[in-house]
Amino acid sequence: MGRLRLCWRAPARGRPPSGELQDQAIIGQQLSYRRLDRSRNVAALPIAGAAVSQPIPRRRIAGLDVAALGLGCMGMSDFYGPADRTQSLAVLDRALDCGVNLLDTADMYGNGANERLLADVLARRRDEIVLATKFGFVRGAEGEVLGIDGRPEYVARACDASLARLGVERIDLYYLHRVDPNVPIEETVAAMAALVAAGKVGHLGLSEVSAATLRRARAVHPIAAVQSEYSLWTRDVEHGVLPACRELGVSLVAYSPLGRGVLTGAIRRPDDLPAGDWRRGLPRFEAGNLAANQALVDALAAIAAARGCTPAQLALAWLLDRVRTSCRSPVRAASSGSTRTWPRHG
Ligand SMILES: NC(=O)c1ccc[n+]([C@@H]2O[C@H](COP(=O)([O-])OP(=O)(O)OC[C@H]3O[C@@H](n4cnc5c(N)ncnc54)[C@H](OP(=O)(O)O)[C@@H]3O)[C@@H](O)[C@H]2O)c1
Repeated sequence: MGRLRLCWRAPARGRPPSGELQDQAIIGQQLSYRRLDRSRNVAALPIAGAAVSQPIPRRRIAGLDVAALGLGCMGMSDFYGPADRTQSLAVLDRALDCGVNLLDTADMYGNGANERLLADVLARRRDEIVLATKFGFVRGAEGEVLGIDGRPEYVARACDASLARLGVERIDLYYLHRVDPNVPIEETVAAMAALVAAGKVGHLGLSEVSAATLRRARAVHPIAAVQSEYSLWTRDVEHGVLPACRELGVSLVAYSPLGRGVLTGAIRRPDDLPAGDWRRGLPRFEAGNLAANQALVDALAAIAAARGCTPAQLALAWLLDRVRTSCRSPVRAASSGSTRTWPRHG
């Protein structure tokens, strides 16, 4: 990851002209945090680089009206070290109170535990929530990933299991988490379409797919959203998926907008991560790479300080700004040192 170049484009000041706001259907993004003090990410939402409190912009994902910032709930049950249930529920309520309404989970997060956690807030505040979950990863009793399953019979089973854990009758946005290489995407999507027809699911999404796969899937049934990693240090989508989404009218939901925490400046050494944190195994978090990446984070922090906001807020402002700019300005160099292992979990 040491070769990654930070491509900074300073956000324009002020709100975009109203005509450009029409273009906002393309990107939603979901940050994630587990501590209430970090709700400052949302409460002092940065627009154009300035830390000011103001309503969160809205986006549309097909027929779903969502705040431009969603809340990813993965870390509340898995991957990012220990979490506290009471604190997680307080964060969920706080996010909803701030106007965040898109909650993102998956059946594999905590092997079902994350969906069960959300059942609590869904029981109390279902009408305020646009609920997104995912299926595809199969995990064993110890949490080990056994594989990816996109077979039609599995799709139906996975959906019923998620509905039961979540305690709802309908999932608003149902994603295929990863494509099963052994099952044609057309077959998986046809099975997902049957869930829409049955009223169990509102809209369909795909996670980490290529533009070509998106096109094939969309020929079977409308795809409302593609969810992919997208942030200042992971810009792969700009080379194929994002242009395809724009062309096809599919929303892009950007996950890990804070670079899995690094862009906040809070993770400077591997030891800043708790024991057992899954990120310790990612190449970009290894000691040498992480140290090299600090130069990028320091540069981000300096720009943020000059603008009176935190690096996390600036990273979110950059993504919000991409809604207007990514189809207009030439895409600059992205993460040439991408170190992804594939498929990634999460
Ligand atoms: N489709 C997929 O394959 C996929 C893959 C990964 C993630 N996702 C989804 O995307 C969501 C977001 O991903 P992510 O969790 O990687 O997002 P992220 O926002 O890039 O990173 C979250 C990390 O940043 C930390 N953080 C947030 N605000 C902070 C602040 N102000 N100061 C210091 N640290 C801060 C959090 O710490 P604390 O938690 O300790 O507050 C957490 O460790 C997930 O929850 C999941 O729903 C999807």
